[in-house]
Amino acid sequence: MSRSGLFSEDRSAEVVVDSFGEGTDPRLREILGSLVTHLHAFVKEVQLTDEEWRTGVDFLTATGQRCDDVRQEFILLSDVLGVSMLVETINHRALDDATEQTVLGPFHMVESPDRVLGANIALDGGGEQCLVTGRVTGQDGKPVADATVDVWQANADGFYDVQQPDIQPHRNLRGLFRTDADGRFWFRTIVPRFYPIPDDGPVGTLLERTGRHPNRPAHMHFIVAAEGYQPVTTHLFVDDSPYIDSDVVFGVKESLVRQFVAVDDPDRAKELRFDNPFRAVHFDVTLSQDGDRTVASA
Ligand SMILES: [Fe+2]
Repeated sequence: MSRSGLFSEDRSAEVVVDSFGEGTDPRLREILGSLVTHLHAFVKEVQLTDEEWRTGVDFLTATGQRCDDVRQEFILLSDVLGVSMLVETINHRALDDATEQTVLGPFHMVESPDRVLGANIALDGGGEQCLVTGRVTGQDGKPVADATVDVWQANADGFYDVQQPDIQPHRNLRGLFRTDADGRFWFRTIVPRFYPIPDDGPVGTLLERTGRHPNRPAHMHFIVAAEGYQPVTTHLFVDDSPYIDSDVVFGVKESLVRQFVAVDDPDRAKELRFDNPFRAVHFDVTLSQDGDRTVASA
């Protein structure tokens, strides 16, 4: 009597998937079944050797061992393989003219302090002074008053405050603003600098072995939210930043890149208590009405 359910090279994935019990949650079955199928196809395609399998196991082991309370090497791995950005993209497709989303990133770990419109969030004095202005509207073009605009960014050396608690002032370069009656927001800051993701672990080794740099182009993070609208988690990218075309986590979307223009206007600089010249950027945010993001995947 033939034992057709036995493992073979041809039927390997099918045999594993068939081993899932009847009570398996349907979504779990779908996800694991697909994972097994793709994984087996991959092993066959590259004809993985024993030694390469061991290298893979050792790499994943080291990745897990590098994780602790403040370091998540697996998320970093997902980021540099483009998986985080892909998950973000398929789950938050921007509709029509709504502002596109991008990754949250690991540095929104503390609450941004409430700040009044126009406040200067750069508390450490360094960097090129910059005026940020923008307006929050719905997809109908109507201004959204009282929207929260949560902002955080790296300093002129490419570090977030939480990475340098003994060097940077408390909550440096973070602010939670509320739009005015016309949906507008504005604040003073500095132009952020590009920065490397942590590259002293297994993921850094992976980048090095594949000829990749570890840098993210200069950006400011935004979460904009208002009642009755879908919140948007996004970045504003500096168009002349190094690495704008090669973000190590693939977070750049063309619609989120803006010029930080040089402004030579001594009177305006004086009003802003800036040195002249200074930089300025405008970033309008369009929110989707609640329930509008239900389009879905095919
Ligand atoms: Fe960032």
